[in-house]
Amino acid sequence: MGSMRIVLLGATGYTGRLAAETMVRAGLAPTLAGRRHDDLVRLADRLAPLAPSPQTEPGIAVADATDSASVRTLLHDGDDVLVSTVGPFMELGTAAVAAAVDAGAGYLDSTGEPPFIRSIFQEWGPRAEETGARLIPAFGYDYVPGNLAGAIVCARARETGHTPTRVDVGYFVDGEFGLSSGTKASAAGVMLSPSFGFRQGQLLKGNPSGTRSFDVGRNRSWKAMPVAGSEHFGLPRVESDLTDVGVWLGWAGRWTPAAAVAGQVAGSLAAIPGIDSGVTALRRRLAKTTGQGPDSAARGRARTLVVAEATDAVGRPLGTVCLTGPSPYDLTAELLAWGAVSLATKGVSPGAHGPVDAFGLDVVERGCADMGLIAIT
Ligand SMILES: NC(=O)c1ccc[n+]([C@@H]2O[C@H](COP(=O)([O-])OP(=O)(O)OC[C@H]3O[C@@H](n4cnc5c(N)ncnc54)[C@H](OP(=O)(O)O)[C@@H]3O)[C@@H](O)[C@H]2O)c1
Repeated sequence: MGSMRIVLLGATGYTGRLAAETMVRAGLAPTLAGRRHDDLVRLADRLAPLAPSPQTEPGIAVADATDSASVRTLLHDGDDVLVSTVGPFMELGTAAVAAAVDAGAGYLDSTGEPPFIRSIFQEWGPRAEETGARLIPAFGYDYVPGNLAGAIVCARARETGHTPTRVDVGYFVDGEFGLSSGTKASAAGVMLSPSFGFRQGQLLKGNPSGTRSFDVGRNRSWKAMPVAGSEHFGLPRVESDLTDVGVWLGWAGRWTPAAAVAGQVAGSLAAIPGIDSGVTALRRRLAKTTGQGPDSAARGRARTLVVAEATDAVGRPLGTVCLTGPSPYDLTAELLAWGAVSLATKGVSPGAHGPVDAFGLDVVERGCADMGLIAIT
């Protein structure tokens, strides 16, 4: 692996611990970074025996996301890759991406927060192009499988001579889904933030109201509500004829229609003076609890299920791709480890990217298949 350095900021959190273990087992010798020295030592001691050799045991480094200078010291040069699982990202994520851009380094994160994703593409991406940094946000269950399924369904349509102009991606969990502490805090944070979508060839504010159904196989039709993802940025770069990209979230299960209504109500509440500070207080309160989430038995009862549908300019369906894979948190850990080593070893061009436009469809498809995320239709 040469001088490759992978630094995992947030290693002591719930997602961070899973990613750290995956990286150590894979022999990536990660530097485990976080704000509490003693917790990092304990984690590194626990994981060291899992390393394939003494040379690949993890190191540690202390940095606080509220102190940008300390985060900048984590990176030595542009060959380093910084992986951040420190959320809520809208509150704590900026120092990591700023450090990566300044160092001209590789950067991945586990964010699912749409405003943060948008800022990486629109604000940080152009700066990264100047410094040589390569940024791929939302490299977890949200939103890698949808980028992959969307790219596959478009490629299949092309193979049969059709031109896909619209893709809709639905995110589901098959089985029981428990949320981690960080997911709850981040969800509270994005409650009032304006949504966006890719329509008529442009990034536009807002999203349609209501829900839509996706055929998820085995004669099941599941509802999902519109959200903002990274597909709005990533997929039009992969398939240039796309004018519309819809991202839909269905993991609230039978509560999805109610959640869609709540989302609309929350959107209109945003205009009420003072409500913003109430949501910030809730997010901060939730963010005080870290490191909690479903245990491995509970994760074993959940499977990732993501569907992409393509249509042409007159609305004719061109096909459906359904991906299934490990539970959302296990998948996120695998993706972050795979993405880090891929960023370090494959020639990705400077700037902000979606997963498929960064690495190419074949590479992402093979990498995901190795972690058990595969197309069943
Ligand atoms: N996109 C996806 O599919 C996906 C999947 C999983 C997670 N996520 C997101 O990833 C984020 C993390 O989730 P999680 O459940 O792992 O959260 P978590 O368990 O609460 O962990 C948060 C981590 O951030 C660290 N942290 C908090 N404040 C910090 C600071 N000032 N400086 C340095 N580190 C700080 C915590 O350190 P301590 O350990 O010292 O408290 C902890 O390591 C959330 O935003 C979540 O939504 C997304």
